[in-house]
Amino acid sequence: MSLWGGRFLDESNKLFKKFNASLSFDYILAQEDIFASIAWSYALFETGVLTKKEQEKIELGLTFLKQEIYKNPEQILKSDCEDIHSWIEINLIKKIGEIGKKLHTGRSRNDQIATDLKLWCKNNIQVLLESLLNLQKQFILSAELHLDIIIPGYTHLQRAQPITFSYWCLAYVEMFKRDFERLKDTLKRLDISPLGSGALSGTAWNIDREKLALSLGFSSATNNALDSVSDRDYIIELLASASISMMHLSRFSEDLIFFNSSEANFIELSDSITSGSSLMPQKKNPDSLELIRGKCSRVYSSLFSILVLLKALPLSYNKDMQEDKESLFDAIKTWNNSLLMAGLVLKNIKLNRVLCYQAAEKGYSNATEVADYLVKKGVAFREAHYISGKIVLQAINENKALKDLDLSQFQKYNNLIENDIYDHITLEACIKKRVSKGGVSLHQVQEAIKKEKIRLNIA
Ligand code: ARG
Repeated sequence: MSLWGGRFLDESNKLFKKFNASLSFDYILAQEDIFASIAWSYALFETGVLTKKEQEKIELGLTFLKQEIYKNPEQILKSDCEDIHSWIEINLIKKIGEIGKKLHTGRSRNDQIATDLKLWCKNNIQVLLESLLNLQKQFILSAELHLDIIIPGYTHLQRAQPITFSYWCLAYVEMFKRDFERLKDTLKRLDISPLGSGALSGTAWNIDREKLALSLGFSSATNNALDSVSDRDYIIELLASASISMMHLSRFSEDLIFFNSSEANFIELSDSITSGSSLMPQKKNPDSLELIRGKCSRVYSSLFSILVLLKALPLSYNKDMQEDKESLFDAIKTWNNSLLMAGLVLKNIKLNRVLCYQAAEKGYSNATEVADYLVKKGVAFREAHYISGKIVLQAINENKALKDLDLSQFQKYNNLIENDIYDHITLEACIKKRVSKGGVSLHQVQEAIKKEKIRLNIA
């Protein structure tokens, strides 16, 4: 059964019917479609197309379908309807009879699908916002737990300067905070209702579209029907937000995979989120993190797919646009699952304090401190940098840490260096010094945690 038989003499080809159908994936829009249809029935009543009785009967029928679907969404899949709009309309007519045929007055599947999709995005954005908040909370809890655990900070994957695990956590809070803000911003532009745009040029019935928009929980109605049915910018924005956030998640995963490597050994991951090898009994692999890292590519591909889909597509609706859904649904589910999984991994992490400290001590990550020491003694930084470089070279040649050089060895390069140099180059001293905003000092970290806890409403 379809919604458009009248103009056709011949039956649809079987292969075409299957090729054309979207029910197998757009059935997940059922609740949104019914919600929008009930609102549409009110609008039709208010403009005089439906009597109160007819509207009530339609609403009752739709509510019945809604409950049926709620109980068993997969039942929809048994039908051979073209899409979710057809399924609901056809089943409504089956349920309440001829009156059901009035519901589609002044409406097109073009504004219907745009409305359903926006409603679906809005619902899912709420879930994602919540997940982004929860993940930030987990980072703050981990930051609080590991205030004094020193780890090496890297540039070029070479030990650069010591930091703390807390500080590393706070870096990710910043990233997921931006993701949260970006998503809220996406929501702002998305939150405008296309319903009542008709096929492309507006509805021929005098519908109060602003009122209709508010009744659906949108902030307002769109300005131009031609744009409204063509627009999928909100999907691009949502998938761009998803891609950026997945990029953050993949960097988080990569950091932890490295921290967990046999070479670094800074952390131990919980048995509950790792897996074994079928051959090598000693293995405990960070699958959860590798999968997040891998799934990032899947979300990127959904962004590229919608961008390419819409490129040079003429206004207004074209069936190409049916291809916007599967990758969107998949990407949003993947993003949310990855956020949940990242939180779970972090929650169960165990740090190896001693190995982290020893690694931070290696690699001359306190070389900058020698230069800063000399600057304090009146040497210009560029000169101080050169002298410190020479001292590092000497230490490398002797296979020693800077702290293990004799004072006389330091003084060979500059006689302003005194015994207090040793206090200046401890890891603790390196960290303590970085007191200005955004620095790694304990005070700054504690202040940041305090602020974030207030923002995130954690007692
Ligand atoms: N299944 C279609 C889609 O997902 C719904 C809109 C169909 N509109 C049309 N004029 N054929 O895009």
